[in-house]
Amino acid sequence: MSIDYNETIPNNVDLADDRRLLRALERWQPAYLKWWEDMGPVESDNLSVYLRTAISVEKDGWANYGHVRMPDYRWGIFLAPPEEDRRIGFGIHKGETAWQSVPGEYRSELRRLIVTQGDTEPASVEQQRQLGKTCPSLYDLRNLFQVNVEEGRHLWAMVYLLQAYFGRDGREEADMMLERHAGDADKPRILQAFNEQTNDWLSFFMFTYFQDRDGKYQLASLAESGFDPLSRTCRFMLTEEAHHMFVGETGIARIVQRTCELMREHDTDDVRKFGGIDLPTIQKFMNFHYSICLDLFGQERSTNAANYFSMGLKGRFQEGKIDDDHQLDGEVYTVPAFEDGKIVSLEVPAITASNERLRADYTKDSQRGVDRFNKIIREHDINFKLTLPHEAFNRGIGAFTAMHATPEGKIIDDAEWEQRKDAWLPTAADHEYIQSIMIPVIEPGKMASWIAPPRRGIHGQPLDYEYVRFH
Ligand SMILES: [Fe+2]
Ligand SMILES: [Fe+2]
Repeated sequence: MSIDYNETIPNNVDLADDRRLLRALERWQPAYLKWWEDMGPVESDNLSVYLRTAISVEKDGWANYGHVRMPDYRWGIFLAPPEEDRRIGFGIHKGETAWQSVPGEYRSELRRLIVTQGDTEPASVEQQRQLGKTCPSLYDLRNLFQVNVEEGRHLWAMVYLLQAYFGRDGREEADMMLERHAGDADKPRILQAFNEQTNDWLSFFMFTYFQDRDGKYQLASLAESGFDPLSRTCRFMLTEEAHHMFVGETGIARIVQRTCELMREHDTDDVRKFGGIDLPTIQKFMNFHYSICLDLFGQERSTNAANYFSMGLKGRFQEGKIDDDHQLDGEVYTVPAFEDGKIVSLEVPAITASNERLRADYTKDSQRGVDRFNKIIREHDINFKLTLPHEAFNRGIGAFTAMHATPEGKIIDDAEWEQRKDAWLPTAADHEYIQSIMIPVIEPGKMASWIAPPRRGIHGQPLDYEYVRFH
């Protein structure tokens, strides 16, 4: 029986009329479904989940809610509507008409950008695949699956670009997306933060807070691209990314809330006795996730980043709102560096510093939510402040790779790092404790011991709604 791909793949790219693309997707879709079965959320095949499915990009089209059997989810291909007479906004092609096909001279750079972004999408699904077994509530289980299916859709979005615009090597790259796996010894994912484990829900909320926010900043700078299909694809992905960060921020906020309640109720800092997660442990997980996410932005000074910018492939965050010539001729930007045993600031050509600039925007954005977490702590009259660690702390890429620093940014030697790092990063014992409280709660409306209920349900539904059905 032939499958009507135009119907099973909701889209706004005229799929039905593009024979070549249809054939490519006919080959790829079964491999994708097999990947979802092997590497996607465990034991989810029979679950019926209250999910949002995008069926068009119009206001009421991209957020359709209803119970869906997970394997029947309809992963669609959507681009934000075209902007009339869109022009390239930066770099040496500034002011020229945006490209509707791949400029030959930038083909390999463009492919690399798309592959690097695309690779993170299935990676996160793989990293999170065990979490369904230990959900703190049905509400959270549903949110996990919503994030998972949308990361799957983001893979579709990038694979669409590869298959529609890059011919044979694009198809090969699309296949490779399903062959690399998070944490795989032989074929790992491209970026290291996407090879780490996400085996507990504290890590999941940190992941969606910090790692998905990196996604937001990468997508936002690709949304500036002179290659119009990439720009439109990323603009639509950003609407979904907002929900992932919402899951992260509200998840951490609810944990902090519950911890503070337990501290007040029992007049103790040691809430582990009562099944809670103590604030220092939350801080350690924050230190870990934030620092590995800073690595995702790459080198502070980067020739690749300079090329991507001048070629018009990847812009800065909200390029259009920046008040300069968008070509950065003669402009400078301050980047941190480690020289003669000291952390210093260097003025470098701004065009080489766009990774650092994006990272700085990301840090500002990350701090906003941390301020909100601290407000919760203050409201409980508790003297504790969560902080983002210094940029030199625990870094694997960039200026601070070959040194150690405390979370406050004080430089320390290897011996001191070894001695003190357990106070700053989650230890095996911390992970063991967190695992010990990951006991699934699947009664509608009920919450695990370590997390407060959310303020409201999904899409106007009550908190005790059956967000996931197990039959
Ligand atoms: Fe994504
Ligand atoms: Fe995401």
